[in-house]
Amino acid sequence: MEIMTDKANAAGTEDNIRPRLYEKIRELTEAAGRDLKACVVTFGCQMNERDSEKIRGTLRSAGYALTESEKEADLVIYNTCSVRENADVRVFGRLGYLHSLKDKKPALRIGLCGCMAQEERVREKIEKTYPFVDIMFGTHNISSLEGLLLKSLETGERAWDVRKEGSRIEEELPESRTYPFKSGVNITFGCNNFCTYCIVPYVRGREESRRAGDVLEEIRNLAAEGVTEVMLLGQNVNSYGDSEGMLTFPMLLKKVCEIDGIRRVRFMSSHPADLSDELIEVMGSEKKICPHIHLPVQSGSDRILKRMNRHYTKAHYIEITDKLRKAVPGIAITTDIIVGFPGETREDVDETIELVKRVRFDNAFTFVYSPRPGTPAADYPDQVPEDIVKKEFDRVLKCVQETARNEIKRHEGEVQEVLVEHLNEKDPSLVTGRLPDNTVVHFPGNESMIGQYLKVRLEKCEGFYYMGKREDDED
Ligand code: 5AD
Ligand code: SF4
Repeated sequence: MEIMTDKANAAGTEDNIRPRLYEKIRELTEAAGRDLKACVVTFGCQMNERDSEKIRGTLRSAGYALTESEKEADLVIYNTCSVRENADVRVFGRLGYLHSLKDKKPALRIGLCGCMAQEERVREKIEKTYPFVDIMFGTHNISSLEGLLLKSLETGERAWDVRKEGSRIEEELPESRTYPFKSGVNITFGCNNFCTYCIVPYVRGREESRRAGDVLEEIRNLAAEGVTEVMLLGQNVNSYGDSEGMLTFPMLLKKVCEIDGIRRVRFMSSHPADLSDELIEVMGSEKKICPHIHLPVQSGSDRILKRMNRHYTKAHYIEITDKLRKAVPGIAITTDIIVGFPGETREDVDETIELVKRVRFDNAFTFVYSPRPGTPAADYPDQVPEDIVKKEFDRVLKCVQETARNEIKRHEGEVQEVLVEHLNEKDPSLVTGRLPDNTVVHFPGNESMIGQYLKVRLEKCEGFYYMGKREDDED
C-alpha cells in the first residue's frame, strides 16, 4: 500500500493526471460499449453532502455517468461519518455487501472517504480486513481523487491519501449539485471547540475560515447559474472570521443578502456560546435570512454542560432563544440533544425535559450518547448503563415529539411561500417543498413547479409536516 502525500501530484496538476485519467476512462468506456457508472453514497452531515457534490462533479467531469445504484456501478465511493458508532457500523456492513458485488464484478472499484478515513483505527481495520477497498482519501484532500483513481485504474493497486494536516480549503473543484436551485456553501472547516464527547475536532482538524471574497464569489456564481437558496455551512458558523478583512459571521451574512438572485439564506450549525447579539440583530433585519436556527443545546443540565465543555448554561441558552424569538417573530428553533452522557442522572434528564418545554423546539434531534475512542468522555468512569439510557431517551423523545407537534401547528391556516424541491416520493401527484422556517409541506402539483416559490395555504399539520393547497388554485 502506498500513501501518496504530494498534493500537486495527487491533485492532477503534475504528470498530466487529469488528461490521463480522462483518456483512461474513455478507453474503458469504449471497451465496455457503455457509460461507466459511479455511485457516491453520503453518510452524516450537510458538510459531507456538500463534499459529495464535489466528488460527483469530479467523477462526472472525468467521464462517469452518475447512478444511485451500487449494484449498477463500476465505482462506488462511501463518504463516511464518525460522529456516532452506529454510522461506523452501517458503513462496515455495507462494505461487506460491496465485497459480494466485487466478487461478481472484479473490475468494480471501491472508495472510502470522509471522517472515518481520517481515523487511524479505521484505516488499520480496512488495511487488514477489507483488502477490496481500492481508494481512500480524507476530508482534507478531495482533490486527490483524480490521481488516486488513475492509479487504481492503471495498476490495480490500492491508492490511499489521507492527511492530518494542511488546509481543507480547496477552491474550484467541479461539482454536481443535487438541486439546481439550492446549494450548500462551506464557510468554515474543522472545529476548535473540543466538546468532550465529540470526535469532529480530531478528524476534521482545527477550524479554518474561507476568505469572504471567495465565499461571495462562489455565491455570485451560483446565483448566475440559477441558485436562489444558499445554506452557509460550518461546524460552528458563529465563529467565522475572514483572515484578511476581520469580517464576522453577521457581516458576511449581510453581504450574502446583497447578492442579486439569492432569495433565501440559511446557515448551520450555530454554537450557543458564540451566538452574538449582532447575529440576532442581523437575523431580525435581513428579510432574506430564513427564520430558522439550528442551535444544538445537547443538555439542559449545567453540570452536564460543564462536563461536555460547552461553555454556556441552561439560563444563557434560554436567554438567547428568548432574544431570537423577540427579534425574529415566528422563528423555528431546532436543536440536538444527547442522552446518556457519562454521569447523567434522572435529575439531569429532568432539566433537559424542562428546557425542551421552556424553549418549545420545532424539532430536536435526540441521540443516545456514543463513546468515541480518543475523546475524553469515552474514558470517563461513570458511563451510564444501556437500559437506563434507553428509558431516559424514550422520556426525552416523548417530550420532544409532543412539544414539536404543538409548535409546528402554529401556522395552520396561513398562506406562506414554499420553495418546491421535488415530486413527493410516495405520491407523484404531490410536490414537496419547504417553508422559510424549514418545515416541509406537501401539496398537489407537478414537476414543472420544482424550483419555484409558490404561495401555499397550510391546510393541515400532520405532526412534522403540512398538507397544503396552492393559494391561486382556490376560488
Ligand atoms: N454521541 C452522541 N451524539 C453525538 N453528537 C456528537 N458526538 C456525539 C456522540 N459521541 C451529536 C451532537 C451533535 C450532533 C451533530 O451529533 O448532538 O450536535
Ligand atoms: Fe463537535 Fe462540539 Fe465542534 Fe460541534 S462544536 S463539531 S459538537 S466539538
